[in-house]
This record gives sequence, structure tokens and C-alpha cells, in this order.
Amino acid sequence: MDKQSAEKRVQELHELLNTYNYEYHVLDKPSVPDSEYDQRLHELLTIEAEFTELKTPDSPTQRVGGSILDAFQKVVHNTPMLSLGNAFNEQDLRDFDRRVRQAVGDDVQYVVELKIDGLAVSLRYENGLFVQAATRGDGTTGEDITENVKTIRSIPLRLKNAVTLEVRGEVFMPKKSFETLNELRLQAEEEPFANPRNAAAGSIRQLDPKIAAKRNLDIFLYSIADLGGTGIERHSEALDYLEKEGFKTNAERKKCETIEEVLSVIEGISEKRANLSYDIDGIVIKVDSLAQQEELGFTAKSPRWAIAYKFPAEEVMTKLLDIELSVGRTGVITPTAILEPVRVAGTTVQRASLHNEDLIREKDIKIGDTVVVKKAGDIIPEVVNVLTEQRTGEEKTFTMPTHCPACESELVRIEGEVALRCINPQCPAQITEGLIHFVSRNAMNIDGLGERVVIQLFQAGLIKDVADLYRLTRDQLLQLERMGEKSTDNLLKAIEQSKDNSLERLLFGLGIRHVGAKAAKTLAQNFETIEQLQEATVEQLIAINEIGDKMADAIHTYFQNPDVQHLIQELQSLGVNTSYKGPKLVKVEDSDSYLAGKTVVLTGKLEQMSRNEAKEGIEALGGKVTGSVSKSTDLVVAGEAAGSKLKKAEELQIEVWDEARLIEEMKK
Ligand code: IVH
Repeated sequence: MDKQSAEKRVQELHELLNTYNYEYHVLDKPSVPDSEYDQRLHELLTIEAEFTELKTPDSPTQRVGGSILDAFQKVVHNTPMLSLGNAFNEQDLRDFDRRVRQAVGDDVQYVVELKIDGLAVSLRYENGLFVQAATRGDGTTGEDITENVKTIRSIPLRLKNAVTLEVRGEVFMPKKSFETLNELRLQAEEEPFANPRNAAAGSIRQLDPKIAAKRNLDIFLYSIADLGGTGIERHSEALDYLEKEGFKTNAERKKCETIEEVLSVIEGISEKRANLSYDIDGIVIKVDSLAQQEELGFTAKSPRWAIAYKFPAEEVMTKLLDIELSVGRTGVITPTAILEPVRVAGTTVQRASLHNEDLIREKDIKIGDTVVVKKAGDIIPEVVNVLTEQRTGEEKTFTMPTHCPACESELVRIEGEVALRCINPQCPAQITEGLIHFVSRNAMNIDGLGERVVIQLFQAGLIKDVADLYRLTRDQLLQLERMGEKSTDNLLKAIEQSKDNSLERLLFGLGIRHVGAKAAKTLAQNFETIEQLQEATVEQLIAINEIGDKMADAIHTYFQNPDVQHLIQELQSLGVNTSYKGPKLVKVEDSDSYLAGKTVVLTGKLEQMSRNEAKEGIEALGGKVTGSVSKSTDLVVAGEAAGSKLKKAEELQIEVWDEARLIEEMKK
């Protein structure tokens, strides 16, 4: 075969195979037997082997999975990937409808869709060619999973038109594929996956795309990330458009005019749920008009124009075998129910927190009871109630101890609190929990220092406080159970690295009452060094926006403690960094920009930079970026095809800039 005829045949085969693929995986209507597909694919592979230059990134042969990766690269999303607010009952849905109508008036249409239980992905196409897929991650930054996503047959590698766009959807594993996969895993003596969602997530995070290729993943697309400039005016149109470009969307969607209609569609879907070939965990209700969506805007975490109705959690019965007590980092004693192992919502549950004594009384829980268990928010096991009619008389009433189960000192109940507390600062359980917290991921993030190792180190007398971690030697670590040379060296390296952490990690790790990770960051940004924070008065602390009275008091009291002061000195002399290393907080008075202290809203499509870059740029000049236009907005930056926000700005006579004007300000 000469080059020219090869080129022509490759072209033909691409078209044929793409059509077969589309018919089979998107339309679910194959027109040829599998053997025909296989033969054509084989033919294409043969030509590509001879004329390697004809092997293009969108070739159907690329779906078998490329070479193994070392790690996933990070991807910063151009538009953040948000999540949805939840509705758990009819009332929540009616409240949502009321809020929507209050904001945009009575002329509202909703689109009701299935909430697919998989994992969110973002797909990027440039000039019609699939170029990148990313996971949601924390919403701002995800991971590059392009190679694995390529293997999903229902994803087009080339679109019908040469458009550039970013689309979002849910990757899932059909129920059948999940069952087959688990059977195979059991045969191979591998751990089965708990549910199709975990199986899909595990497959997408495989470093070897060939494994992902075998996992039979599928996808439904549900939105276009940035519609600016497309001329599309409704969410339902966006879905139709996706279909036209060759994407798989879920046909089970319905337009509704009233909340009554929405409720009856939900009822219909709930009945059909078990017969679907894939798992859904709820139903999504979205405002159809994009102009209204823009008007409604977003809260910090989710859009105001959509809500997810979550199905009630599955409830099962089991026996409560015992109640165990644990002592937390702050000395709180928590009772935990030990349950006869039972499957609920996809995993086996054998423990459930009972929180405190009052809850045990309220629910009248006794040891030996038959109880109803569910997973709150589908994750955290919870005892719902006791089936008292099943009692035999053998059940035992549980009473909280008067003394700490770890150190035997007398427990106290602090006024106004339900919890019983051990107030002995030397209590070994509290100290180990504190150490575990200090090394944990959001605190000092010391890899390789799990609970087991911390407990061993404490019991061996090698660490008494967090400073001791930085005094550990190689020989000491090697003496521990299951610590080889390699893990010891890795651990020492991780400990060493943690010395360079920015101040907020240390602040969170110290476990100051009421100070969570977010407050720690605020404190670090505002005070910059631990010395300045130590010297801060309660008034200075309260003056910071996100710090309330209770927290300010706790912080001040904490740093007055001579033991704490000594500990900080020790950490410093061991080389632990105590300064803030992140981006500087720009104080309004320190910025001479026009944007200092101004509240800015971004709208429309920006051409020169992403929304995120614009936001960071404005913040670096002392401005604040918010989502919706109101009387307190000082400035609106309008890109291409800006819609209702721009209109509102004009109505309210708010100053409007274009992108070029913003760039000019940023360059000053
Ligand atoms: S819309 C701004 N539609 O549910 C958020 N999400 O908490 C846009 N999901 O992360 C999401 N099916 O992973 C949307 N039909 C659907 C969905 C859906 C499943 C997932 C998605 C998202 C989460 C929302």
C-alpha cells in the first residue's frame, strides 16, 4: 500500500470506527456485529504500524490505553468545579423554589435530571479535538486523567465541529460491569470494591491506562463549563448541543414549570431507580434559563440555581454488642457503639459514634439491643433508633464512667456542655491523639507517621510532646516494630521537610481550642509570625473578620500558658519554621490601586486570562471579588457576551470595566 492510499483508508476507517463506537456506546444501537468492529480496528492498527506518522491522537486505536504514568499532574480548572446544595425532603425543595422565584420572578422553568453516582470530570476540547480530562479535586485544582478517560468509548475523541470548549460530566461504572469486575477480583483473591462509585473512582485513578481501558467505564455529560459566546440561552439547549456534538447525555430529563411537577417527576424516578442499569444517588433540579442562572449566582460552595434532591439513606437492622469509650484530643469522652457487622449503603459497618451520654439516654440505647443503622450523608454510620419491641430483658443499661478510661483521673462535665471531659493534661490518650492530630494531613502533614507508629513511639517513651518528634533518631526508629531501613529514612525525611511548613499548618497542628484549618490560615496571614500572634491582644484578634469572641479568648489564653511558650521556643530551636509563607494578605491601606477596598464582580467570558487569574489579580491589589451584583458592588468587569449581571450593573449605575481596563490596572 502506498502512502496516499494508506492516508485515504485511515480516514475511512476513522469514520467507520467512530460511527460504530458512537452507535454502540452512545446511542446503544449497534448496526454491525462486534467482529466487524474488531476487524476494522485490526486493519487500522496494521496500517498505523507501517505508517506511524498516520497514528493521530484522535485515532480509535488510542482507546486501548497508552503507557504507564509515574503520577498524575495537577490541573487548575479555568472555571471552578462546584458541588450542589442538598434537599432531603419536599419542604427543602419548596424552599428552593421559593428562593428562586423571589429572586427572578415567576416565569421559571426547571430541568429535572438524574444525579449519577460516579465522579465528576471536566473534558477539554480544542478545535474539536479532545485534549485533556481532569478530576474535580478540591474544585479548584484536579488531576490530569486524560489517558484513562481516553479509554472510555462513549467519549468522542473528535467532535462533529471544530469547536473549543470545556464540558463537565459524571464518569460511572454500570451495575453489571461492577458485578463482573468484583467476581473477577474475588477469583483473583483481590479485595472487591464496595460499590460502583468506588470502582469507577479506583479505575480512573489507575496509573496504568490499560487497566482503566478494561474497566468498562461510561459517562454522562451534564454541562458546558463556559457558555460565554456560544449563543446558548438555556441549560436544556446546552444538553441538546452536547448531544449534537456527539456526547452522551442522559435521556431521562424533564422540563417542569412548577414545583408540583418537579415533585411528581421525582416520585416517578424514585420508583424506576432500582431498574436503572447504573446507580443514582439523587435527582438534580436546575433553573433552565441561563440568564436567570446568572442572576441567581452562587454561594461560596454551590450555585443558587440548582439543588440536589438526595434519596433517603438505606436503613438496616443489627445488634448493638457493646459500647466502647475513647478519649479525644481535647479530653472529651466519646461512647462508640460496637455493632454486629452489617452491610449498609455499600460498605460493612461495625462501629457508630454515639456522641455523648445524653444521646444514649434520649434514644434509650442498651447493650444487646436490636438497632436500626444508617449512614448519615451516605458516609457516617449512625444509630437511628432502638427496636424496643425486640428486647428480651437481657439488655444492659449503659452508664458513663466517673473516671477516665485512659488515665483514671476524675471526669468533669463543663457547664453548658453535654460532653464529659478528662482534664488531666498528662492523660496519655489525649497526648497521643494530639500527636496524631499534629502530624495529620491538614496539619504538619508528616507522611509515614500514621496512628500506629505514633502510638508505638509514645508507648516506647520516645515522644512526649510534639517537639520530641524533631529529636527522633534513626536508631530509635529502627527499633520499632515493622520499621525497615527504607521506611525509617523516608519518615526522617518527611519529619525534616515538615520543618519548612508555613505557619498555618503549625497553628492548626497545635490544636488550639476552636481553631480549625481555615482559622489557622487566617491567623497566619494576618499575623505572619508566631511571635506577633503570641503578642496579640483579644481586641486585635476580634478585629479580624473571621475570628469570633470565643476563638479570640481561646487563642489568647493558649499563648499565655508558660508550657506553650516553652514548647514554641523548643520547636524554633529545633528548626521548625514559625512564619507564614503563603501569598501576602494585601491590606487595603497598603495598596495604592484604585481597586483597594473595592468589591468587584466578574461576568462574561474573559479572553486574556482565566477567572481565577483575574480574581487573584484583583485580590493582590486589595480588592474583593464576589459573585452577584448588588448595591454594595463597586465595580463590574464585563467580558464577552456578559448577560444579566451587566444589565443589573447598568440599572444600579455601577461602574463597568472591560477586560483591557482591568489588565491595565493590574500592570500598574
Ligand atoms: S450539575 C455546579 N448534574 O453531583 C455544580 N451534577 O454535588 C454542577 N452529579 O460534583 C453539577 N449528576 O459530580 C450536576 N446531572 C447532574 C449530575 C451531577 C451527578 C454530581 C457531580 C457534582 C455533584 C454535585
